Amino acid sequence: MERIIVWYLRMSVFYFAAGALVGFCMLLWPDESGYYISSHAHLNLLGFMSMMIYGIGYHILPRFSGVHIYSQSIIRIQFWLANTGLLGMAICWPLVLRQIARPFSEVLLMISALSSLTAVVLFAFNIIKTIKPADK
Ligand code: HEM
Ligand code: HEM
Repeated sequence: MERIIVWYLRMSVFYFAAGALVGFCMLLWPDESGYYISSHAHLNLLGFMSMMIYGIGYHILPRFSGVHIYSQSIIRIQFWLANTGLLGMAICWPLVLRQIARPFSEVLLMISALSSLTAVVLFAFNIIKTIKPADK
């Protein structure tokens, strides 16, 4: 397995643990829970689930099609955009909801969300350009 793909999978399980920990803390402190739902949901869904799908997708889909991934550079750029984007979202969301360090936290949340979105679009582009139907 390629090194960068191992890193996608490592970060995925890291976000799973972080997301579950935030969820558990939300149960411990229900009055505070509302500030952290979006961080919790996206650590789990954009972090654990999506990052796992990025890694497994990049490993398996080209093998199904018998080709190489369209762009290795996109895999790397996407990795950094997805991780900085998600970390920024997870940290800034509660700050924004708690009205801490605004408007700086809001701007950073927007930039992070845009970074995550770009990673999603790059993944879609790279996969679309990679997969192709089997020859008849
Ligand atoms: C140890 C594991 C987990 C704990 C303790 C936990 C705990 C919680 C808690 C306390 C809430 C807030 C519920 C509310 O007040 O409405 C919540 C919401 C949520 N959780 Fe988890 N969770 C865990 C794992 C997961 C996982 C693995 C996922 C997804 C893969 C997930 C996705 C969500 C989502 C999407 C919401 C928001 C639902 C909404 O919008 O109302 N959680 N979780
Ligand atoms: C570019 C990446 C993403 C951005 C910028 C984004 C943004 C948002 C925003 C602004 C909300 C509303 C939060 C609020 O209630 O104020 C939200 C909610 C939600 N999103 Fe996302 N999202 C992204 C990706 C995803 C993905 C990939 C999933 C699932 C696989 C997902 C699942 C959810 C769920 C379940 C909620 C409702 C729970 C909550 O209140 O946070 N999102 N998202």
